[in-house]
Amino acid sequence: MCGIVGYVGGKSAQEVVVEGLRRLEYRGYDSAGVALVHDGAIVGDKRAGKLANLDKALAEAPLPESHTGIGHTRWATHGGPTDVNAHPHRGSRGRVAVVHNGIIENFAVLRAELEAAGHELASETDTEVAAHLLEREVSAGADLAAAMRTVSARLEGAFTLVAVDAAAPDRVVASRRNSPLVVGVGDGEHFVASDVAAFIEHTRDALELGQDEVVTITCDEVSVTDYAGTPVEPRAFHVDWDLSAAEKGGFDWFMRKEIFEQPHAVGDALLGRHDDAGRLQLDEVRMSEDEIRSVDKIIITACGTAFYAGLVAKYAIEHWTRIPCEVELAHEFRYRDPILTRDTLVVAISQSGETADTLMAIRHARAQRAKVLAICNTNGSTIPRESDAVIYTHAGPEIGVASTKGFTTQLVACYLLGLYLAQVRATKFGDEIAAVVDELSAMPARMQRLLDDAETVYAVARELKDVRSVLFLGRHAGFPVALEGALKLKELAYIHAEGFAAGELKHGPIALIEEGMPVFCIVPPRGRDFLHDKMVSGIQEIRARGARTIVVAEEGDRSVDGYADVLLRIPASSTLLQPLTAVVPLQLFACELATAKGHDVDQPRNLAKSVTVE
Ligand code: AGP
Repeated sequence: MCGIVGYVGGKSAQEVVVEGLRRLEYRGYDSAGVALVHDGAIVGDKRAGKLANLDKALAEAPLPESHTGIGHTRWATHGGPTDVNAHPHRGSRGRVAVVHNGIIENFAVLRAELEAAGHELASETDTEVAAHLLEREVSAGADLAAAMRTVSARLEGAFTLVAVDAAAPDRVVASRRNSPLVVGVGDGEHFVASDVAAFIEHTRDALELGQDEVVTITCDEVSVTDYAGTPVEPRAFHVDWDLSAAEKGGFDWFMRKEIFEQPHAVGDALLGRHDDAGRLQLDEVRMSEDEIRSVDKIIITACGTAFYAGLVAKYAIEHWTRIPCEVELAHEFRYRDPILTRDTLVVAISQSGETADTLMAIRHARAQRAKVLAICNTNGSTIPRESDAVIYTHAGPEIGVASTKGFTTQLVACYLLGLYLAQVRATKFGDEIAAVVDELSAMPARMQRLLDDAETVYAVARELKDVRSVLFLGRHAGFPVALEGALKLKELAYIHAEGFAAGELKHGPIALIEEGMPVFCIVPPRGRDFLHDKMVSGIQEIRARGARTIVVAEEGDRSVDGYADVLLRIPASSTLLQPLTAVVPLQLFACELATAKGHDVDQPRNLAKSVTVE
């Protein structure tokens, strides 16, 4: 979720680009840079850290005047947040500069091809590969747009590329696949950007680009083609949002925007981690196959929402690998004197990578010689740095304090880890693993269907906005989803909400049921032994005692119709993967109910996005 700006026009390109990056700071980033075309050369600077570091560097060593330039705020995926890894990246002769948002899945193969041809790449990024490929094309006589079409057609994955050529000072060229890019249309000037927030202070007239398209902007012209070079007419639109809404992509809250980003984020979490045959490729696990085979216990440790992701992971990992898997709250972990050996794999889940409780837990685990693997969304943060290996969730910056896409991409990373362990230890056949990978690949579309029907959930939330207590029930992998749904409501609506294992009701909690009390019931898929039927009988019990049942059940499951006061349908999924869809209505419910109560959904009271104190 990097920030990208490109400009050609009569103003100072450095000023327009840097100010555009400032408008994109809300997206979260860990480095920034600019590149300008001046007098037949590329000039620029880039710095790790915040934009202030780049500002300081540019103040100390001002760049020459230019009217053509590009800029970037980076959210690190491949390679940590360093000056060298910061964008823009250049080709071997420094003639072409490129900035990139997304993940180039086949960059390793392309990098090997370039190095075999004598190219020396300085960074750990996938982006630098594109810079060298583009420069090779223009050096062979192609214009920048033709070069962009040729190179883009070779790339796999999700990317927005924006480039300048020292030999073509009048233009900026960009390409997009599965990653955002918009064009700003000014008077004698044009812009390209990852979102309209970068240029709406200059113009509110914009053009939308489609999949696999290349755009060339000059002072006076915008031309768009597909990757075959066929001209395309982009759709024009007028930006009505104010800057604040633009930063949230038109949503009222970052959290709501991030709920709706989940299909894309889940897709990104899968990118490059399996081949077309469904075979896992998880090199980042950085454990030899022998080490993986010697693992005799897994302990997952985390806090809050990340802990609930770990609870879901336990069901999947134990079923697929037959390795005992414990899940421990990080702040409890080291005080219970856990039994750790060299064959224990401790998995630390953390969106921010800075949660002090989780950091202390992994320090304890490493002191006990256990292997530590982090599942984290923030490249270069402390927890992955202090772990033996890391699986990044690639959710992009999560700005809302209440975690949403952080949670669902943590689930995907845990599933991938479990499948990889099963693949190496051969506890699952290849076709069984491939079947799960196929279903994971179908999840973005299933989640999108739920988001397309968000209004159904919103209506329930608005009707219940004055409720004082809500219960959440689930069984098996649905139990952690119930806990997560309750946490969302607690932290956003500030009301009592509690998640229970449905089987636990008759052991006490059923005494809480009062007339009209809303109870979310997450119904497991049919066909999983007695799990489903037991859940339905639990719904009957609470309804008989006056509960207002809000039933989350898969499409086609008619068995619940007679017991649901509200029925929220989710696409049919396998038991272990159902959390990816079952959680979505609960996220939407909490967000809308808190909004109806007039709360600050992005910054709930008493909470911080990253709890860096124990
Ligand atoms: C979730 O909505 C909360 N913001 C909180 O529970 C969070 O999940 C927890 O503090 C862990 O944070 P981390 O994932 O950054 O380690």
